[in-house]
Amino acid sequence: MKILFVDQTAKLSGGELALLDVIYPYRKESKVILFEDGPLHLELQSRHIDTRIIHLSNNIKNIRRASRIPLSSAFSLIQISRDIASEAANYDFIFANSQKAALVSVLAGKLARKPVFWYLHDILTLEHFGKTQLMAAKYITRHSSQILVNSEATKKALQKLTSRTKNVHLVYNAFCKKHYTDHSTTDSRQALRKHLGLDSRPLIGVFGRLAPWKGQDVFLKALSLMPDVQGVIVGSSMFGEETYAQRLEGDIQQLGLQDRVKMIGFRKDIPELMQVCDIIAHTSVAPEPFGRVIVEGMLAGKPVVATATGGPDEIIENGVTGMLCPPGDPHALHSTLSAILNAPDQSSLMARRGQEIALERFSLDGMYKKLDEIMSVSLLSPTQGFLRASA
Ligand code: UDP
Ligand code: GLC
Repeated sequence: MKILFVDQTAKLSGGELALLDVIYPYRKESKVILFEDGPLHLELQSRHIDTRIIHLSNNIKNIRRASRIPLSSAFSLIQISRDIASEAANYDFIFANSQKAALVSVLAGKLARKPVFWYLHDILTLEHFGKTQLMAAKYITRHSSQILVNSEATKKALQKLTSRTKNVHLVYNAFCKKHYTDHSTTDSRQALRKHLGLDSRPLIGVFGRLAPWKGQDVFLKALSLMPDVQGVIVGSSMFGEETYAQRLEGDIQQLGLQDRVKMIGFRKDIPELMQVCDIIAHTSVAPEPFGRVIVEGMLAGKPVVATATGGPDEIIENGVTGMLCPPGDPHALHSTLSAILNAPDQSSLMARRGQEIALERFSLDGMYKKLDEIMSVSLLSPTQGFLRASA
């Protein structure tokens, strides 16, 4: 299958890590268009995937949460859609992996008469988006042939906003199990902890980009109630949340956590870092669309605590394969984390069950089978998509 993939960002956030896995089986005959240069481009190059960067004009880049789409931006959108439409002529369909990419792709799809697939990674509510973006999402929904959603929670929000039910497919993120196979030894784990400036006290890790809705500040408050426990925050701000990152540094000082909490920025050795942690915590305060880090923690064989909103509710069976606690509540987080540390045998059993379930539910083979089915069926009736997409 020849696919033209389109994504607006070249940062390595969860949606783009998911895209790298989605592309893999189709990589030889496909092409990726990105609207900026960055680490995702390097990852694509290292996999020898044909990639082109089309820079967006500032007036499109500046369409943000609450803004209207000005006329000049609409003109730029049409120009870029024409460019993508001429690329699309050589492919079976367009696969858009983000909202701006999808907006341009549905316009390009019309011009090139090609079906458009939209992989929706976001929960479309006012908690996450502005009104203009939600309006754009409705337009994209009407004109996409197939919509893939990363969780039931994402699907529910889409259906509440747009009432679309036809050709909406649940495709969970999938993971390569060999990356999470533990090759560490006591010595290597100790060495890594030492390198991070941490000692042998229990260690809780939070992984993910730094953003207010990811709730790392709640984690710091919970840790301030646990004097013998260390914390590591792994990740960086990606979409302009530098002030929040500085605020977290300030919170660490203010709560007196300097000697036991480290912020180590963006890392590529996530499985190794997870192995040195005793618990993986996920702390989002707004509904998480999916939550790759939760599955990664389970695959690493660690007890995982996540906030009970959106994707985590689907991933974790509370008390069986991990623990769920209410979002934005440092006291609840503190007691859940303490309960896990105080019951090591039950916690290891829960972590083992979590690992087994994660291996079964989130395998790459399973995802590829599902993608192939969706794509093949859609291509058998190619006009179905772009002429009468929504139900
Ligand atoms: N991640 C990473 N390095 C970091 C922090 C996070 O590679 O320093 C990865 C993490 O392993 C996960 C992804 O970034 O695969 C985050 O995805 P998730 O779905 O949890 O959240 P998102 O940022 O997409 O909302
Ligand atoms: C988005 C979501 C995240 C999800 C990822 C991959 O970045 O915020 O919850 O795990 O996409 O689908």
